[in-house]
Amino acid sequence: MRVLTGIQPSGTLHWGNYFGAMKSMFDLQAKGEDMFMFIANFHAMTTVRDGATLRKATRDVALDYLACGLDPAKTTVYRQSDVPEVQELAWYLSCLTPMGLLERCHSYKDKMAHGFEATHGLFAYPVLMAADILIMNSDLVPVGKDQKQHLEVTRDLAQKFNNAYGEIFKLPDAYIPETVATIPGTDGQKMSKSYHNTIELFDPSVKKKVMAIVTDSKTMEEPKEPEGNSIYELYKLFATPEEVAEMAASFRAGNYGYGHAKKALLAAYHRMFDPFKARRDELEKDSDALEDILREGAKKARAAAAAQMEKVRRAVGL
Ligand code: ADP
Ligand code: TRP
Repeated sequence: MRVLTGIQPSGTLHWGNYFGAMKSMFDLQAKGEDMFMFIANFHAMTTVRDGATLRKATRDVALDYLACGLDPAKTTVYRQSDVPEVQELAWYLSCLTPMGLLERCHSYKDKMAHGFEATHGLFAYPVLMAADILIMNSDLVPVGKDQKQHLEVTRDLAQKFNNAYGEIFKLPDAYIPETVATIPGTDGQKMSKSYHNTIELFDPSVKKKVMAIVTDSKTMEEPKEPEGNSIYELYKLFATPEEVAEMAASFRAGNYGYGHAKKALLAAYHRMFDPFKARRDELEKDSDALEDILREGAKKARAAAAAQMEKVRRAVGL
């Protein structure tokens, strides 16, 4: 099964990105699926307007992928811009995309609500995302719940293309395990760069941020219901089932405060991420090796895209 995802290099990656998209990829990689994972630098241009910033952020995402578990021998890793054919496919899809379909997209409306400039790039963003997915003949796309609608747009466009030109594209499915559909941020809303409530993968102020996670004002002595509590929800991501059951029981028993739970969360985070940090520091020292991995990935990705585009061009009449 062909599995693909991409993350925009539009800022430092956070826990929501790791559990919402990256971890699913590494789990599927371990199962031996046919994996493609890219850095969506074309997409990031909708919000990043500085070349040096984009270049650095792109490299940082590549390092984060590799540090957290991407094995380049098993997963093709590449920069979106190394497969320029996606822009071409995006145009073909654009010509079949009803305006109303894009007008209904929540992510666009959400960006507008957060004061972003209404550009054509931001509006047409889901069409380029559909091209990323369809050009690689993907079956499964691990993403967070916020991207579900974009997968529906992708399926819609694939179907429209097939109706117009013949069966070229498979209809891909989103892969959204319920446990990681929406990771809460430090304020309890969805963790997102736009909400300033993130904890980064290798956050130097992780301790401060964890300690500042918003809770209700129950006293330490009071028994508490753990379900729905952000600290508990985050702990579930890092801890073993036994540890999670133990925390739930402590909350329900009383005499267990949010401060205790925050300390447990912090320890579980370090247990998982400190080895990733050590690997990242190593990788960062050798920029030639990183460049080689990305160049190799680009070669494989481009070959897959070229094969698909040959069929597409013939179908559309070019
Ligand atoms: P942000 O909301 O911070 O801008 P992105 O939109 O760049 O994050 O997300 C990149 C990937 O990470 C997507 O697959 C997205 O669904 C996933 N993701 C981001 N935040 C979360 C979250 N809080 N919970 C689950 N998945 C998330
Ligand atoms: N839109 C995704 C996000 O904001 C990034 C993305 C671009 C993507 N192209 C993709 C994700 C293709 C999965 C597949 O997170």
